[in-house]
Order: sequence, then structure tokens, then C-alpha cells
Amino acid sequence: MQDIINSVKTTHELSKPEIVELLKNGGDELFKAADEVRKQYVGDEVHLRALIEFSNICRCNCKYCGLRCDNKNIERYRLSKEEIVDLAKKAYSYGYRTVVMQSGEDMYFTAELLAEIIKEIKLASDVAITLSIGERSFEEYKILKSAGADRFLLRIETTDKDLYKSLHPNMDFENRKRCLRDLKELGYEVGTGCLVGLKGQSLEALADDILFFKEIGADMIGIGPFIPHKNTPLGQDEGGSFELALKVMAITRLLMPDINIPATTAMETLNPNGRLIALQSGANVVMPNATEGDYRRKYEIYPGKICINDSPAKCRNCIERKINSIGRTVSTSKGFRRPLTPPTFRGDVADKKIEDVIENILPLPTGEDKGGNYENL
Ligand code: 5AD
Ligand code: SF4
Ligand code: FES
Repeated sequence: MQDIINSVKTTHELSKPEIVELLKNGGDELFKAADEVRKQYVGDEVHLRALIEFSNICRCNCKYCGLRCDNKNIERYRLSKEEIVDLAKKAYSYGYRTVVMQSGEDMYFTAELLAEIIKEIKLASDVAITLSIGERSFEEYKILKSAGADRFLLRIETTDKDLYKSLHPNMDFENRKRCLRDLKELGYEVGTGCLVGLKGQSLEALADDILFFKEIGADMIGIGPFIPHKNTPLGQDEGGSFELALKVMAITRLLMPDINIPATTAMETLNPNGRLIALQSGANVVMPNATEGDYRRKYEIYPGKICINDSPAKCRNCIERKINSIGRTVSTSKGFRRPLTPPTFRGDVADKKIEDVIENILPLPTGEDKGGNYENL
């Protein structure tokens, strides 16, 4: 085990059986190695992303999710264009340099309408914009990119095709991969990720998920434990564990040393210190909630979501204090991925302060292809 860990710290490669072994038996040594690799490649700064949950209306019916269209036990809402722009401006005033616009798959928000919103936000505030709005066509993604969107989050959820099919009525695994490919081609920074602890999900399947992230050259990976929601078909399932989700995340960091990895809210739901533990096990991003009032409670993807009674200002202060308490700092930049191209930089990085290496050698991202091979997608 320690041999595998020592080797991956420099090669950033693992075979599927090695990943399975780490998922089975990895512990503190794994988390420590991921923390070291995180420090070496992306430094001590933590990037904050302000999450704006602008509509909980969804046309999909994912069996694990509280927003699924068959759940009639939820008050649906949709923010107006003005409300969304206003929340983004406030987020900027609190010091956020990225806003994440997240919603269910709500087709009221056409690409044209979203494009208007993106342009208004960009005119008013110097922020990067991440979209998390689900599956759309190439043309729609193109309109959104031209309007100024910088990044896109679309989790693959699981790469186990049978499991994917059973969890996603009327959705198509191939189309999801098509979306990821289109987004990459259009120059978005692409985030994906998976759920951990679904019934029927093997360690081998999780190993495949991790290898998939690397294969497609993802720029960001969000990993969260599955948390059963009572108003869904999976309400009686056991749910995922914090530890296993943390292991998937730590291994992802070891294999993809320079990407952005959030300490996810679902992790904090299962462990009161979940985000800080994640930040010390490979993560370098936090996505605090910047939605106001009752909408937070209504955006109930899973139960026990943190901060539902808190304000954007409170979360902003709270998270900075927490980050500082573990000797880390909040970044003041937009926090784009700055890819290190191995092997040229690997040796240098080991001996130098990461900031010097990055500032002096690396070009800022321009949205060009960051590597990754889509041929197998
Ligand atoms: N538990 C944890 N995460 C969930 N998601 C959806 N439902 C749940 C749940 N019950 C995640 C999915 C989706 C993201 C927005 O929320 O991975 O991509
Ligand atoms: Fe809709 Fe996303 Fe929930 Fe699926 S996971 S039901 S697409 S909000
Ligand atoms: Fe919301 Fe701590 S991050 S109260």
C-alpha cells in the first residue's frame, strides 16, 4: 500500500487494481499524500465559488435527487433575471470572484435568456461564471460560451452504464458524454464528478469513474456521498459514507495533481468538519451558498443540507474563518486551472514555491485544450 502511494505521488498514474486497493484499504497515508500533492501543485490558496441556486425546477427524474420532476412534495421556484443578477453582484461585493449558476434542467431558461443574464453579470462584476444547468445542445452551449460563461459543471454521476441507466429514466449516458465533449471543445473549463455510495456501485466502478476523469482531462472534479432523500425512490437506501467519498477524492487528486477539487457540501452534511477535512485531503475549492432566504431550503437535492438558515454574508465570513483556522488562505483570483504539463515542470515544482513556478513559467489559461483524450468517449 505505502509503495503504491509513494509511487503515485510522482507518477500520477495508477492501474485499476491499485485504485481498488486504495479504496479498500487506504487511510491516513492516502489522505496525507493527497494533501502533499495538493500543496505542491495548486498551493495553499482556497478558491471560493459563490453558488446561486436559481431554479429548482427540473425536467429530469434522477432517482436519487429531491428535485426530480416526480417529487410533488417540494415547492418549486424560479428566480427572475433581476434577482439572479442582484445575487451575483452581492457575491462580488463579498469578495467572490466566481459565481456558479446552478439549477435543475429548467427549460424556461433558454440559452438566449441565460446569455442575457451572463452578459449583465459580467458587465456589472468582474467574476468568472460557472454554469451548472444540465444537458443542452452544442448550439446552446455555444451561445452561453459566447455570452461569457467560463466553466461548466456536469457530473457523469457514475460510469457504470447499467447503474447509470437504472438511476436515470429517459436519460442517455452517451448524450451525457457528448455534452462533456462539446463543452471541452467549446473551450469551457469542464467539471465533472460522481456520486459515491449508490446501491450496486462497486469499488471497481468507482475506480472506473476516477480513470474516466483523467481520461477526459477534466479541469474540476466534484465528488460527494449519496445521501438518501425520503421523497425519492432511493429514500430507503443506505447512502454513501464520508470516508469512501474522501478516498475517491484523495485518489483523484493523486492522479490529477493540478485540477480544482471542491470540498463538497454533501461531505459537510455527513461530517460537521467535512469540508475542512476534505481541504486537508486533496481539495482546494469551496462553494459556499450565495442564495438568499427561503430558496436555500427549497433547493433540497438531499436532506440535511448545511447553511439553509444562513445568509450569504454569514457563509462568506464563516468559511474564511474556517479556512484560516487550518493555515490556508482565501484566493483573491478567479481561480482558473493552471495546468502544469508534466514531466517538464514536475522536478522544478518539487523544489520551489508553487507561486513562483506558476507565475514565472506558466501561461494563463486561454481556454485551449488542456489535454485529455476524448477518443474513447
Ligand atoms: N445525495 C447527494 N448528492 C446528490 N446529487 C443529487 N442528488 C443527490 C443526493 N441524494 C448531486 C448530483 C448532482 C449534484 C447537483 O447533486 O451528483 O450532479
Ligand atoms: Fe434534475 Fe440534476 Fe436532480 Fe437530476 S440531479 S433530478 S438533473 S436537479
Ligand atoms: Fe454557511 Fe458556515 S458556510 S454558515
